[in-house]
Amino acid sequence: MFEAAAVCTPGLEEILTEELKALKLKPKAGAAGVVGFKANHRELYAANVWLRTATRVVVRMAKFRATDFAHLEERAREVDWKQWVPEGYAPEFRVTSKASKLYHTDAIAQRLHLVVGPPGMPAREGEPAQPVQRFTVRVVQDIVTVSADSTGEGLQRRPWRQEIGVAPLRPTMAAAMLLGSGWNGQTDLLDPFCGSGTIPIEAALIAKGMPPGGDREFAFQQWPDFQPGTWASVKGSIGSSLREATVTIEGSDRDAAVISSALSNAQRAGVAEAVSLSPMVVSHLKGHDGPGLIATNTPYGKRVGDGDLTALYRKFGSVARERCPGWDLAVVASDARLVKNIDRRLKPVWSFGHGGIPVKVFKRSGRTPEGDSGSDQRTQDENQTDES
Ligand SMILES: C[S@@+](CC[C@H](N)C(=O)[O-])C[C@H]1O[C@@H](n2cnc3c(N)ncnc32)[C@H](O)[C@@H]1O
Repeated sequence: MFEAAAVCTPGLEEILTEELKALKLKPKAGAAGVVGFKANHRELYAANVWLRTATRVVVRMAKFRATDFAHLEERAREVDWKQWVPEGYAPEFRVTSKASKLYHTDAIAQRLHLVVGPPGMPAREGEPAQPVQRFTVRVVQDIVTVSADSTGEGLQRRPWRQEIGVAPLRPTMAAAMLLGSGWNGQTDLLDPFCGSGTIPIEAALIAKGMPPGGDREFAFQQWPDFQPGTWASVKGSIGSSLREATVTIEGSDRDAAVISSALSNAQRAGVAEAVSLSPMVVSHLKGHDGPGLIATNTPYGKRVGDGDLTALYRKFGSVARERCPGWDLAVVASDARLVKNIDRRLKPVWSFGHGGIPVKVFKRSGRTPEGDSGSDQRTQDENQTDES
């Protein structure tokens, strides 16, 4: 069994925990942004294939106490590194240290390179860089924990996502927003500010029972103990989870160029037939019957286009209430006060960092108490948006 851990953006641990449970694993809380679990080879491979909110899956391979460099080297020499570093690969150490005598992270990495092998050769003209096996090294109160990365390129880098617009949402966040809202592909979904299509595409992948990263390579495939038969079986079982999407998944954006990027992304993701993407300003949204979820990432910043974000948020709120009555609403945004202009009943449910900006997911249920429309009377006549 591997002592594995899934790594996510801090704030998403609860949703990731539910994903691990759905894979029949037994998650246990770890440090911020880390959820631990035990896994055999099959389960480790499956976690990499199926987790939508994790950025990577690592395996703990050594844990020891070290208070000086001589001690660190001595204990590191006892580790069977050959088991984790494939032939022709160079080790790469990502070190953090807290409350420990060994605190100089670059010096810790240098000492580990002396034991395990030199850093990878950078790319030279006409030649690719030497492939690397990444290790995370956490030193906390003089206890050194070394983990091997089983993922390789981060899981948030979905291969289908080759075209992006302004301020794109990370796919792992989009998946977290959907799963954390309880959306499981059984009700309609709409994103009226869809940009390059991240939310509708993640939704379509869920609705169709498709893995988030498509057919990609993982670091564990190069490990000396890689089990090709087990891997073939994990990949083979993807077929049995595929299904037709039975709900409507729509995305729109006022920018026609970004919609064309969204369409190309959807094509690459293999979900083009399951999503409907069109250029449209939010005020032109058509009416929808319930139930459904509006999941969106509203524009950030003070102003958008020639208009004011307050006016746009108010417009969006009134359009959502009038044309999608009974729909749930989930919004990723940075400014809680601004978000109240969409609907007073929106409540923050998670916070996380996004490209250096702290953002929150705000939610409100479509089942509203009688007489509470969620609108602010002062805003009823608001129509000065960037679209007008
Ligand atoms: C934060 S971005 C959304 C990014 C998207 N989630 C992604 O991952 O690419 C906000 C989007 O709102 C769009 N937008 C701004 N004003 C709009 C309006 N009035 N109607 C529709 N879309 C609008 C912008 O073109 C931009 O693509």
